[in-house]
Amino acid sequence: MDFEICRLLNIEYPIFQGAMAWVAESSLAGAVSRAGGLGIIAGGNAPAEVIRKEIHKLRETTDKPFAVNIMLLSPFADEMAQMVCEEKVPIVTTGAGNPGKHMESFKASGIKVIPVVPSVAIAKKMEKLGADALVAEGMEAGGHIGKLTTMVLVPQVVDAVHIPVIAAGGIADVRGMAAAFMLGAKGAQVGTRFLVAKECIVHDNYKKAVLKANDISTTVTSQLTGHPVRVLRNKLSKLYDAAEREELRKEEPDIERIEKLGVGSLRKAVIDGDAEYGSLMSGQIAGLVNKEETAKEILESLMEGFLNLTAKERGL
Ligand SMILES: Cc1cc2nc3c(=O)[nH]c(=O)nc-3n(C[C@H](O)[C@H](O)[C@H](O)COP(=O)(O)O)c2cc1C
Repeated sequence: MDFEICRLLNIEYPIFQGAMAWVAESSLAGAVSRAGGLGIIAGGNAPAEVIRKEIHKLRETTDKPFAVNIMLLSPFADEMAQMVCEEKVPIVTTGAGNPGKHMESFKASGIKVIPVVPSVAIAKKMEKLGADALVAEGMEAGGHIGKLTTMVLVPQVVDAVHIPVIAAGGIADVRGMAAAFMLGAKGAQVGTRFLVAKECIVHDNYKKAVLKANDISTTVTSQLTGHPVRVLRNKLSKLYDAAEREELRKEEPDIERIEKLGVGSLRKAVIDGDAEYGSLMSGQIAGLVNKEETAKEILESLMEGFLNLTAKERGL
């Protein structure tokens, strides 16, 4: 099959494994890239040298293309941008900010740039800056989210820009893949389903919570801070709920109090396996994710069924 995004990025399948802070390191990203998808190492809030090591580890296992995600709100975003240029990383995805000031050096280093966008206005801005493609991410997704659903965001972004758009948020099976293409996307970015990949380093307690989740297991925390996060409900999300309700009643809500609740909480879930007080970031599609498989099995199950659909059914 000839997929535009595969030609652009030199990958086999039009599927990105979403960047996931603390989660998506060389083991998961390498497995996805080796299997033909686009593996993405998440920069998160890590120092650049930590991520450089992950890049080297990944490169020991494959010479296939991969990406690094730069979280532009990170205190290390500038050094991360410099490091990916030094390492000649083939593809960079960006989130939580404007990659404008790094664009020239990315381009000079031959890096393809794919910002993650939550709205048409930001999509247009990124295209103007010289982005090669976009990930349009709906609020069904796990982790930090925007305001629009995948269903309404993707077709509007597709109509507004001339570069390929990858759909993210709520895609975990062939039906989701087909829907993304019907909406005009040229590929799909999958996060939550890869949380339970065998190569994913997430603690077993976290994986079990995702496997057990149903359609209404997630909630959105941190709305008051302006940076909402989708997580599985647990004791931490209840603490957020109570604190946010309390602060909302005040004339001057204490935003810092809410922010403090999140500090270190993703690490607690991913590394320590604290499923009660850790931040179990996960998308609404978790209810559909019910077995642990290798990254290759996940990619093949998504692709096989998709290729069996007629071109019309695939939105091509
Ligand atoms: C645990 C977790 C951490 C995430 N961290 C990041 C991140 O650091 N940067 C980013 O751009 N997206 C992040 N995301 C979003 C994913 O890259 C992806 O777009 C999203 O999970 C897709 O939606 P889905 O969860 O419905 O599959 C994260 C998602 C999860 C579940």
